[in-house]
Amino acid sequence: MKALAICGSPRREGNTEFLLKRALQVLEKGGISGELVRLAERRIEPCTACGICRERKDRTCSIEHDDFHEVFEQMQAADIIITGSPVYFGSATPQIMALLDRAGYVSRANGNLFSRKLGGPVAVARRAGQNFTFGQMLYWYLINDMVVPGSSYWNVAFGAGPGDVEQDDEGVRTVERFAENLVWLAQALG
Ligand SMILES: Cc1cc2nc3c(=O)[nH]c(=O)nc-3n(C[C@H](O)[C@H](O)[C@H](O)COP(=O)(O)O)c2cc1C
Repeated sequence: MKALAICGSPRREGNTEFLLKRALQVLEKGGISGELVRLAERRIEPCTACGICRERKDRTCSIEHDDFHEVFEQMQAADIIITGSPVYFGSATPQIMALLDRAGYVSRANGNLFSRKLGGPVAVARRAGQNFTFGQMLYWYLINDMVVPGSSYWNVAFGAGPGDVEQDDEGVRTVERFAENLVWLAQALG
């Protein structure tokens, strides 16, 4: 089992990254190795709706001059995909949505490449919008035939400046429990 945590924040070492690293630590303890991908270090353009992925059906996107394919291959190789985003004006960031739109469309053009992979989203904000952003990303998992475990709350947390989220005990515990449930699920599935 391999996990991939994708951080949709343009800020390195911020709150989203903190929560994703915490989830990866819990997975590691449960015997699942993982990797963090920072979209702050990648350039992924939005889907152009060209439809070429549906004609070619070769697991590729027509936009070839950015970092999409590298991350898309990591997603295909992972058994567990966790996505994280800060809330920007009530929504997930354009960075994470550009990736999810293209990955989802290419996957669906090729017979649902993410079918029955495990995972789920994590959202963080200074004050409000986490639930919507969590839901926004959750839609992607559910339409892509993926399996998302619950936790003691929705995977949402509070934090403004980088690292502030560490003070949100309940938010951090929720993400930890989510990761414990991923381990449990992975073990139950063998
Ligand atoms: C462009 C922008 C829009 C934001 N919009 C919201 C918002 O709608 N609600 C909120 O509570 N915080 C908002 N924030 C604050 C971030 O969600 C918050 O600082 C978060 O912890 C950043 O996560 P990061 O450290 O992973 O980048 C916004 C920040 C930026 C830069």
